[in-house]
Amino acid sequence: NLPQHVRLVEVGPRDGLQNEKQPISVADKVRLVDDLTAAGLGYVEVGSFVSPKWVPQMAGSAEVFAQIQRKPGVTYAALTPNLKGFEAALESRVEEVAVFAAASEAFSQKNINCSIAESLERFVPVMEAARQHGVRVRGYVSCVLGCPYEGEVKPEQVAHVARELFAMGCYEVSLGDTIGVGTAGATRRMFEVVGRDVPRDRLAGHFHDTYGQALANIYASLLEGIAVFDSSVAGLGGCPYAKGATGNVASEDVLYLLDGLGIETGIDLDRLIAAGQRICQVLGRANGSRVARARNPD
Ligand code: HMG
Ligand code: MG
Repeated sequence: NLPQHVRLVEVGPRDGLQNEKQPISVADKVRLVDDLTAAGLGYVEVGSFVSPKWVPQMAGSAEVFAQIQRKPGVTYAALTPNLKGFEAALESRVEEVAVFAAASEAFSQKNINCSIAESLERFVPVMEAARQHGVRVRGYVSCVLGCPYEGEVKPEQVAHVARELFAMGCYEVSLGDTIGVGTAGATRRMFEVVGRDVPRDRLAGHFHDTYGQALANIYASLLEGIAVFDSSVAGLGGCPYAKGATGNVASEDVLYLLDGLGIETGIDLDRLIAAGQRICQVLGRANGSRVARARNPD
């Protein structure tokens, strides 16, 4: 029994662009966000309020938020690793934020410079402030199917962090295969274990496509009843603290899969492809979506 509706969380402007070395203008970022919502995406992660020393590309997030055309019904979100980030997000009138933790200690240190336990403590005041201001908080867990520094990650480690995030008030917890090493069987086992602690309708899948397994893992997740997936237009991206990691699964490819299964998303594939083609031209790179390449042969 597959879900009838799936919600796609577009992370291209954030996860997709955060790793880009070349400067990208605020205008190009704004255009990308507006193109994505015009294609029917109902949720866009626009940027991050993180240390500009750690992720320079996200330094302009406040300007991007100031210039996008906010469509009613669309959620525009941002990453906030601590209270300082949350306060900046509030100033930018962000309606929803995300805190991010990891299932592996080494990745937590490399990405946010603290242990898993410290990160969870750091999120408590963010949750508190968010509650006061009526801002919803999404939680991320990275390295759910493997860590670039520690290798294997057990589903129980993922369940522990996901449970904590859910218990502190995250309305949804997105489980990230940061380095794209997962396979369909491991994905199903992971959701099976985590699903004992967090209801499945509160879980999302976040797959990077490094090993070309992302679509298979999404199908495996659908079979486990997961109905929210993070994806990145044109398959942009990679995490700056996970060497060699590629972009997220391409939104166009996920949409093609879902359309084929008769699962509703409300997104227009042609317009989504056009949005991806445009940002790829800006970046001067090949489109990472197989569907977009098939539709636009050179
Ligand atoms: P730290 O150095 O330990 O922080 O970094 P600190 O509190 O000691 O502060 C150091 C400096 O950073 C200070 O400035 C602070 O003001 C500043 P200074 O006095 O040196 O000039 N600072 C900030 N500036 C702006 N915004 C803030 C902020 N906080 C402190 N919010 C910190 C700790 C968490 C800040 C840092 O490690 C950081 O920003 N990390 C972000 C890393 C990141 O964004 N990674 C990518 C996103 S996660 C991801 O991609 C995975 C995901 O896609 C899922 C998956 O695929 O697995 C979500
Ligand atoms: Mg990611």
